[in-house]
Amino acid sequence: MAPSQPLSTSTPPASPVVFESALAMQEQAIAWRHAGDDIGLVPTMGALHAGHDSLVSRARRENQRVIVSVFVNPKQFGPHEDFENYPRPFGQDRARLEALGVDAIFHPPVDQIYPPAFKTRVDPGPLGEVLEGKSRPGHFGGVLTVVLKLLNLTQPKRAYFGQKDFQQVVLVRQLVRDLALPVRIVVAPTVREPDGLAMSSRNAYLDPAQRQLAPIVRQAVTEAARAFTEGETDPANLERLTRERLAGAPGVEIDYVAVVDETTLSRPQRAVPGGVLAVAVKLGSTRLIDNVVLGAERL
Ligand code: PAJ
Repeated sequence: MAPSQPLSTSTPPASPVVFESALAMQEQAIAWRHAGDDIGLVPTMGALHAGHDSLVSRARRENQRVIVSVFVNPKQFGPHEDFENYPRPFGQDRARLEALGVDAIFHPPVDQIYPPAFKTRVDPGPLGEVLEGKSRPGHFGGVLTVVLKLLNLTQPKRAYFGQKDFQQVVLVRQLVRDLALPVRIVVAPTVREPDGLAMSSRNAYLDPAQRQLAPIVRQAVTEAARAFTEGETDPANLERLTRERLAGAPGVEIDYVAVVDETTLSRPQRAVPGGVLAVAVKLGSTRLIDNVVLGAERL
């Protein structure tokens, strides 16, 4: 539990302090900042895997203090999504974060983030309504609302996000720019299973047959990205290649396949290096997303 007095030395504690109280978390973060320590925040919903670990390790290298938030945010789940069933193995997460040497885990109950009188909601604007936002109405409003609150509670100099959730990165950057938040957003590459499947807490929902099929998502975008490298720049053709590859896998239902500009999320006339090919599919009731930055990866 949280100590009554905020720590102020620069030596990381042997095991992370778990804060459940929003106020205690904020007081600790302010004390660290006043002591001159840079704070790195890694916001997560828990059920941690090697993708999360890579963000935490990077934060550990770049800051005197590392806070990892573990909070399954009800506001970013739709009414028929998996909020109730989302995995919450907090004991395992805590052990994992201890091994990574984090200073604090912020693990609030829902009413610490959203007390009964809570009313404000961050509106992500039009970029929150395409791609993921089209399939998951309200999702990014929920994400930006919690991210803004987490930033205010933990006072980070740097906050770490994964490229796997590429649209989330675009919208968090927009939030920081539009509202002049004093934080640097650091983006880390997608960590994958040996067969290419992007690591995700939701992969646990896949049955063995679906799990075997799942790497097709990575294969499909990789193949299109290779075609780009070899000269194919028509977004429609790159999308068609991806769709055709996915169509070969029975049981994979395409939600979207889209070549988009990495900042405006609109479809370019011609695909250019740095543009993104983003995909979402459903395998049974499990939604998987992935993306590739064109011209940026060795494939
Ligand atoms: P969550 O899905 O737990 O992801 C936490 C962070 O880990 C996100 O920045 C995500 O992009 C990153 N991440 C997930 N899988 C990854 C992988 N395979 N490789 C690298 N990074 C990966 O994203 C959320 O939680 C929430 O929306 C949150 C930002 C915490 C707000 O509630």
